[in-house]
Amino acid sequence: DLATLIDVPAPGPNHTQDRSKETLLDAPLVPFINEPDTNPALIQNQQWATKALATAAEPGWLEKQTKPEVLEEGDVDKLINDVRDAAEAWAARPARERAEILYKTAEILRVRRGHLISVAAAEVGKAVEQTDPEISEAIDFARYYAHLALELDDVDNAEFTPDRVVVVTPPWNFPIAIPAGSTFAALAAGAGVIHKPSKPSQHCSAAVVEALWEAGVPREVLHCIYPANRDVGRALISHEHVDRVILTGSSETAAMFSSWRPELTINGETSGKNAIVVTPSADRDIAVADLVKSAFGHAGQKCSAASLGILVGSVYESERFRKQLVDAASSLIVDWPTNPSATVGPLTELPSDKLHHALTTLEEGESWLLKPRQLDDTGRLWSPGIKEGVKPGTFFHLTEVFGPVLGLMKATDLNEAIEFQNGNDFGLTGGLQSLDADEVRTWLDHVDVGNAYVNRGITGAIVQRQSFGGWKKSSVGLGSKAGGPNYVMLMGTWADAPSHH
Ligand code: SER
Repeated sequence: DLATLIDVPAPGPNHTQDRSKETLLDAPLVPFINEPDTNPALIQNQQWATKALATAAEPGWLEKQTKPEVLEEGDVDKLINDVRDAAEAWAARPARERAEILYKTAEILRVRRGHLISVAAAEVGKAVEQTDPEISEAIDFARYYAHLALELDDVDNAEFTPDRVVVVTPPWNFPIAIPAGSTFAALAAGAGVIHKPSKPSQHCSAAVVEALWEAGVPREVLHCIYPANRDVGRALISHEHVDRVILTGSSETAAMFSSWRPELTINGETSGKNAIVVTPSADRDIAVADLVKSAFGHAGQKCSAASLGILVGSVYESERFRKQLVDAASSLIVDWPTNPSATVGPLTELPSDKLHHALTTLEEGESWLLKPRQLDDTGRLWSPGIKEGVKPGTFFHLTEVFGPVLGLMKATDLNEAIEFQNGNDFGLTGGLQSLDADEVRTWLDHVDVGNAYVNRGITGAIVQRQSFGGWKKSSVGLGSKAGGPNYVMLMGTWADAPSHH
């Protein structure tokens, strides 16, 4: 039946090797390898994805899936104390055991790829081509952090004490990969985790947590809850026995958490206002493709999205370049995920005031190169918009809008382009499109972002190869980057390195 059919990996030849029997005992022999995405060119994979979407569209299907328990007022103390107790035994296990459980989790996620695509489509409207790489990323996080956990077995217990209680508060825009990565890292280190999903993606979060339970994480060590109301949420986050919060969300949320409890340790990846600089030496075909993918993938609802294209000199003046850009953006198929051909889905929520402003209003000197259109009366489906003439210091230069609008700025030279790129409070991702080695060097020396990408789109960091995290207002807490070599060891205290906090 349909349900069984989607509860399998994509049928096409996705994998270069069978890893189902692999355990960590092979780890020294099997280096970490990134999980491949499903190949959408194969007809059997298209049929598989279509089935997953049809499942997601069945009325009432989502409501039948696992979701978090509601955390009531008065239960907060007990929950935190229980996790604190259970975490002691979890931390006392050899790290290898925790790592084996993460390996098993990766295997469960691999088998459940179709199911996870269904949940993300039904819950946040994410298109298959956007969810599929997230599942690969989640599998990567599990296996990579398992490898990192092994290093803890070589660390003297007196040196490293894992956190006891970590609260994970992921976002809804990457509803699988980010909940997974944050939770896996804390568990790998030996911490107990209270996973508090973002409300719009609570079923996605619960599906990830369920995989961990099935793989062998004790339920006392890992909970998935949703606070009954804001006061309960506040009581949880600000509780004295919460050692750390891993937050991926807005800068405002991070500031709110800190105001609730100033001494709280937060590892936060927050907002971004990211740009790709295109110089006259760029390969313009690649620049167009990367701009469009980075700006409009998942309707621009990524902290890493390209919101600005800073075009240097003749690139900005080029009619041909602009036409290419408009043609490429217009070729995206914007639709609800029930349409398997959709490349861009709906907004997960109605546009915020900021996004609504960006979609409907031009500032002084701006004009629409491609005017965004509201495609149906839900208010959530918008065709991509491109505005030109964005000036430094204006609303659109400075503000994260989190939606399908790209603003073009004109820079006279690379130095001015870098000035515009660095000229807002954020510093998450940034791109340069240039085939000139001197330009690349200059740009890398001066750009103020956590993830700097050359001749590549600026979303979709790859675990281990492009560890992810920002500078300036895009990051909270002195942290190591997600998907990078020090991330697991961040989840605790070091006897000789108090600066870790
Ligand atoms: N890791 C994601 C990306 O790189 C953002 O959270 O796009």
